[in-house]
Amino acid sequence: MISRSTALRFILAPALALTLAGCGAPLSAHWQGLPGKAPSEQGAATESPEVTGTPEGPDCAEVKCVALTFDDGPGPYTESLLDVMEKHNAKASFFLIGKDVAKYPEVVREELANGHEIGNHTWSHQDLAKLSPAAAQRELRKADEAIKQATGAAPTLMRPPYGTITESLKKAQPVPVVLWSDDTLDWKTRNTKKTVKAAEDIKPGSIVLMHDIHKSTVDAVPKILEDLGAQGYHFVTVSQLIGQPKPGVGYETGQKPGTKK
Ligand code: NI
Repeated sequence: MISRSTALRFILAPALALTLAGCGAPLSAHWQGLPGKAPSEQGAATESPEVTGTPEGPDCAEVKCVALTFDDGPGPYTESLLDVMEKHNAKASFFLIGKDVAKYPEVVREELANGHEIGNHTWSHQDLAKLSPAAAQRELRKADEAIKQATGAAPTLMRPPYGTITESLKKAQPVPVVLWSDDTLDWKTRNTKKTVKAAEDIKPGSIVLMHDIHKSTVDAVPKILEDLGAQGYHFVTVSQLIGQPKPGVGYETGQKPGTKK
């Protein structure tokens, strides 16, 4: 005999109203979104847009800058990477996997304390374009919560796994959406020399994609910092590179010298 009172019920969280900034900023000319996907509004819950503010650092419209970005961490090699970055006074951006943040909370706090920028790379690295709009939002918001719990601050950027996101989900994001201009393919080669070569084949304003979960990548960073530093590059966060990136807008590159308005 089954008691009615034991029946399980699905509790559906009420759909929170989208709190979009009302920002009518144009999409980045470089952005390659995935048009024609379902709208993201149903069941989507998003937080108040974060104010990115004016990031301190070199003026990338005057000097050569590059944004090194590290995805899929934190991991066992992230802390040694932070030591190397600090030695060279270099800043970077870390796109974190939400479910791994609680494994290395002190490393994540150190990233922020050392002046690096933290981005949301979803809770479990799923392809957001293949999820329902509500499930995609859950992947993102859960990662936001994990990062906030570890650092006390919400991530100021987002990068979708595989670089895929629907146009509507991108527009609904409370932070800028960041892809890359230069993919080192470090995850594929797992080769320090090849990673160095790929990371050095860049231009001012480049956003370089790497992964700090691979030892071969972390081992490549000292030489990258030395060589590009000798060429006059400043290593900045994505927000510093772009200037004032806007929530819900996609970016693949940043400022380069001679582009001052
Ligand atoms: Ni990734």
